[in-house]
Amino acid sequence: MTYARITGTGGYLPENIMTNHDLEKIVDTTDQWIRERTGIEQRHIAVEGQTMVDLAEMAARRAIEAADIDAQDIDLIILATSTPDKIFPSSACILQARLDIHGCPAFDVQAVCTGFIYAMTIAEKFITTGSSKKALVIGAEVFSHILNWKDRTTCVLFGDGAGAVILEASEDTGILSTHIHADGKYENLLLVPYGIADGYDKVKAGEAFIEMKGNEVFKVAVNTLGRIVDETLAANNMMKSDIDWLVPHQANIRIITATAKKLKMSMDQVVVTINKHGNTSAASVPLALDVAVRDGRIKPNELLLLEAFGGGFTWGSVLTRF
Ligand code: COA
Repeated sequence: MTYARITGTGGYLPENIMTNHDLEKIVDTTDQWIRERTGIEQRHIAVEGQTMVDLAEMAARRAIEAADIDAQDIDLIILATSTPDKIFPSSACILQARLDIHGCPAFDVQAVCTGFIYAMTIAEKFITTGSSKKALVIGAEVFSHILNWKDRTTCVLFGDGAGAVILEASEDTGILSTHIHADGKYENLLLVPYGIADGYDKVKAGEAFIEMKGNEVFKVAVNTLGRIVDETLAANNMMKSDIDWLVPHQANIRIITATAKKLKMSMDQVVVTINKHGNTSAASVPLALDVAVRDGRIKPNELLLLEAFGGGFTWGSVLTRF
């Protein structure tokens, strides 16, 4: 049987750090409020002129190096993002050219914070059906470009960054199952209300900002992530105690803690980066994965549950042996 296995991870965060104290100078907020309600202490923000593909390229190069493969052998590129450099070509194509890869399929996936889970799901299908042998899967965002820096209910939550993995066809166990869902009826709880249809002039003017009913999103997220955990375990006939590591989307430490509690997992088995990264949307899961792989916490053959929830609403999980 052919599995899709993660053989390398990479991450990149812009050097520019914005702390909660920096935000106190911009909006009516406090370090204490942000820490207590979200778990965030700081976030990385792209510098002027630094684009999403710039971040994605750095993360991709690090994943390629970690997997010890030749970039030319990559036969599939999937880039999850909600903040593409251009309307077209896709950011995956722009990245492909930067990596000097030519001819393989390259496309973007838009599922907001669940984007990386969607991208992994698609890549896994390509690999297990024999259409791809080495896939580059990336989540990258510059949410700082779609934040209203006068809105304290959103601007304190998000950050910029990129995470990437190389997925390779392998006889050794890798991804065991993937689960993705969406329910578009929740559009109005979390959205950027402008695009081509509703006045692209707002996008051009840099006025297309995230709007979120945080409290309502919070409740749906906690319930939905609880259900995806049950669905994933049931599909694999596994118990909560089988999971070695939870690698969750980093939106709010209270959401992460609730999911860990549902899994009866100690927080020592949960990869938490929200304190340093904020919510980096599609980049948050691969960034967290990369951090815990590189610092030696995640070891070969351990069982990882990756999960995310985001705008759409979209949600999903990946259960994989590392
Ligand atoms: N600083 C200080 N006060 C703030 C604030 C800030 N940055 N943002 C909001 N507040 C205030 C509100 O105005 C409100 O004041 P009021 O009680 O006088 O009306 C109070 O804090 C509580 O606001 P509320 O929205 O109920 O707080 P909360 O406990 O729900 O926390 C979030 C807000 C956004 C942190 C939380 O709801 C959340 O994380 N939601 C989900 C986010 C998420 O998952 N998003 C995307 C999915 S990827």
